[in-house]
Amino acid sequence: MEDPHKTTPTLEEMRARIPDIGDDFTVPQFWEKYDETQHGVWRSLYRRQSKLLKDRACDEFFQGLKGLRLTEDRIPHFERTSDELEKLTGWRIVSVPCRVPDKIFFEHLANKRFPAGRFIRPPDELDYINQPDVFHDVFGHSPMLAHPVFSEYMQAYGKGALRAMREFDTLPHLARLYWYTVEFGLINSKAGMRIYGSGIVSSKAESIYCLDSPSPDRIGFDLERIMRTEYQRSDFQKLYFVIDSFEQLFRDTYQDFASLYARLKSGPSYEPGQVLPTDRVFTRGTHTYVGGTFAP
Ligand code: PHE
Ligand code: CO
Repeated sequence: MEDPHKTTPTLEEMRARIPDIGDDFTVPQFWEKYDETQHGVWRSLYRRQSKLLKDRACDEFFQGLKGLRLTEDRIPHFERTSDELEKLTGWRIVSVPCRVPDKIFFEHLANKRFPAGRFIRPPDELDYINQPDVFHDVFGHSPMLAHPVFSEYMQAYGKGALRAMREFDTLPHLARLYWYTVEFGLINSKAGMRIYGSGIVSSKAESIYCLDSPSPDRIGFDLERIMRTEYQRSDFQKLYFVIDSFEQLFRDTYQDFASLYARLKSGPSYEPGQVLPTDRVFTRGTHTYVGGTFAP
């Protein structure tokens, strides 16, 4: 579980620790420096998730995984993975040592670069991370970046977020869109309800919970509804938004948000757990899951 919009260190703070950090927060991956234990963590996570995600993640995710030739036994070499990714959609993965400031993050996305943590969680913390690591960022995000439409959405998001900061001085609403799509999105595919959100695909427990648990609400994608809905940073989600297709996601966000931002200045905001009469409900949750255990 991770939150892409938590506080981040400044460039000066990072430079004190890592003198060769770039102005855009990139650092060399130093792939040769990973030890066997670290490759072992990648291997365990990769095996576990790819087995678990069968019939849970969407086809597009698996196509991306295959297209990028991510290796099961070794932490990916970003340059090599990027060469594959670039052939498919023009994106590259760049290495960063920490969560990066919003503006830096969006500038990378706007230029088709995905910043990926170069560190990996320790072997005794396979199920917990407080910073997005290489498994979350590369296994979780890069397969979807190999998808033509989704990768365009990601770039449009980066550009849109820069515009939101510059022209409208507002980010929270857009952050919710990222959260409920890129990180925790579900898709109503021909084969059934499937996962595409990176925060879910990289989590063992949530990849089961988000589809199998009766607890959360699953509601049809609705741009303004999402932007009015707060999100929980920790614990499993109480609410997932379901898209019908990546084309829908792209189409619905491919419009000038100026009037939307103006509308969002007033009007209601919602909490996860609330269901509205106007919602397109896939499954109405029982809301019986309470922090860490399923209530009987
Ligand atoms: N269309 C949005 C705007 O005009 C930009 C955007 C695209 C934001 C896709 C998010 C996702 O600001
Ligand atoms: Co992420």
